[in-house]
Amino acid sequence: MEGKKVIITGVPGVGKTTVVNEALKKLKSEGIEYQSLNFGTFMFEVAKADNIVKDRDQMRTLDRAVQKRLQQRAGQAIAKITGNVLIDTHASVKTPKGYLAGLPEWVLREIMPDIIVLVETDDDQILMRRLTDETRSRDKEGSRSIAEHQQFNRSIAAAYAMLTGCTIRIITNADFLLERSAADLADVLR
Ligand code: AP5
Repeated sequence: MEGKKVIITGVPGVGKTTVVNEALKKLKSEGIEYQSLNFGTFMFEVAKADNIVKDRDQMRTLDRAVQKRLQQRAGQAIAKITGNVLIDTHASVKTPKGYLAGLPEWVLREIMPDIIVLVETDDDQILMRRLTDETRSRDKEGSRSIAEHQQFNRSIAAAYAMLTGCTIRIITNADFLLERSAADLADVLR
C-alpha cells in the first residue's frame, strides 16, 4: 500500500518525540494510522550488533565514514516499510568535526519523503529542557550554539527540498503549548 512518508526533525531536546506521540494519539482516535519510526534506533541496532557503541548518544561521535554506513543501512531498512510512515530523525547532527547531514542524498534517495517537518522553539527553552532531562546524555552547549544549529537545519532543509521536491513545514513547540504543536503536526499528517 502506497502511503505518506513524513520526516520529523529538530535539534536534540526540542521535544519532537513528545509532539509526535501526542499527534499520533489524536490521529488514532480519528482512525488514521501511522507507523512511527525512530531513525536513530535503526542506526543504533546496527551499531550495537557491530559492537561499536554502548548508548545512542555515542553515535554522533563516531567517525564520519562509520556514521555514513549506519545511515545508509537505516535508510534502506526504512525504505522497505509501506503505508503511512513517520520518521523521527535529525536534519543535521552536531559531531565533534562539524555538522553532519542527517538526510544526505544516499538516505533521501531511499526514503523520498513527501514532507519534512522542522520542530523548533526558543533556544533558551531547549537549553532548559536539556538541562532537566536526566535520562539522556545531552551535549552541553549554550543557547547561541543551539540557535546556530536550528538555523543550519533550516538551510539544509532547503537543500533536501531541492533534491526531492518535498515540502518543508516548520512547527513551533513552545513551553506550555504542546497541545498546539501536536495539533499542527496532526494537520500535516491528515
Ligand atoms: P534521537 O533518538 O532522535 O535522539 P534525540 O535527538 O536526543 O531526540 P530525542 O527524541 O531524545 O529528543 P526530542 O527532541 O525528541 O525531545 P523529547 O521529546 O525527548 O537520536 C539519537 C542519535 O541518533 C543522534 O544523536 C544521532 O547520533 C543519531 N541519529 C539520528 N538520526 C540520524 C541521522 N539521520 N543521521 C545521523 N545520525 C542520526 O523532549 C525533550 C524534553 O522536553 C522532555 O523532557 C519533554 O518532556 C520536554 N518537552 C517536550 N515538549 C515540551 C513542551 N511543549 N513544553 C515543555 N516541555 C516539553
